[in-house]
Amino acid sequence: MRVIIKNNAADCSSWVAGYICYRIKTAKPTAKKPFVLGLPTGSTPLGVYKELIKLYQNKKISFEHIVTFNMDEYIGLSPEDKNSYHHFMYENFFNYININKKNIHILNGQTKDYAQECDNYEKAIKAYGGIDLMLGGVGSDGHIAFNEPFSSLSSRTRIKTLAPSTIKDNSRFFDNDVTKVPTQALTMGVGTIMDSKEVIIMATGENKAEAIHQAIEGSINHVWTITALQQHRYGIIVCDEAAVKKLSPSTIEYFKSIEERLK
Ligand code: GLP
Repeated sequence: MRVIIKNNAADCSSWVAGYICYRIKTAKPTAKKPFVLGLPTGSTPLGVYKELIKLYQNKKISFEHIVTFNMDEYIGLSPEDKNSYHHFMYENFFNYININKKNIHILNGQTKDYAQECDNYEKAIKAYGGIDLMLGGVGSDGHIAFNEPFSSLSSRTRIKTLAPSTIKDNSRFFDNDVTKVPTQALTMGVGTIMDSKEVIIMATGENKAEAIHQAIEGSINHVWTITALQQHRYGIIVCDEAAVKKLSPSTIEYFKSIEERLK
């Protein structure tokens, strides 16, 4: 696992946006062989989306041959609902770049057949040859996408009931009213995410410090689903100083010294 520790959230966002840009350019995507990106929602990746939009506006990158798969979507919210992840993605990213709408994939939380929707999603990812680069955030309880504590580490895309901690954390988008937060979501599984060729998980702020401690220094377990990243061959955690507050000083020194030597 590679761990990048930056001073603050803004530096994390620039690094991640630069890295995505580098990966896309190196892959030289075409219509026949597009670059497949896995994308998250949440507050953490907002800075990355802003940076990527800037890079696009400055003609440093094109999204013409990019295919995207979002990690998750709430059950029951329409794409127009301001709290749906559809709405989030268009408002914060897709509306400002040259992505082809037919290349955007987001789970339909209003479907009548959840199992079929999830199965189709898995098949669509496979049809593109898998996800080249998956970007994710992490919940304060260590969940990735909506893979709540005790999710199977080999889970696939499916319906999940949200944990009380997630409902409480996400109520800030729903007038701070926990009763307004959907209680279920469709989500890529931990196994789906880990099948990606490369996975970057971002974490900023002190409320992610325990999750980062578990992810890097804990054992692999289904309580902190982020720990599955330890088994990925190309896993990267990008975090700020606040998020590494619970790591031991020697762990921090080790990862920082490696990045220093790479400069
Ligand atoms: C939600 C999303 C996750 C995200 C998490 C943390 O639960 N399903 O994908 O990582 O929130 O969000 P934030 O970045 O706002 O802390």
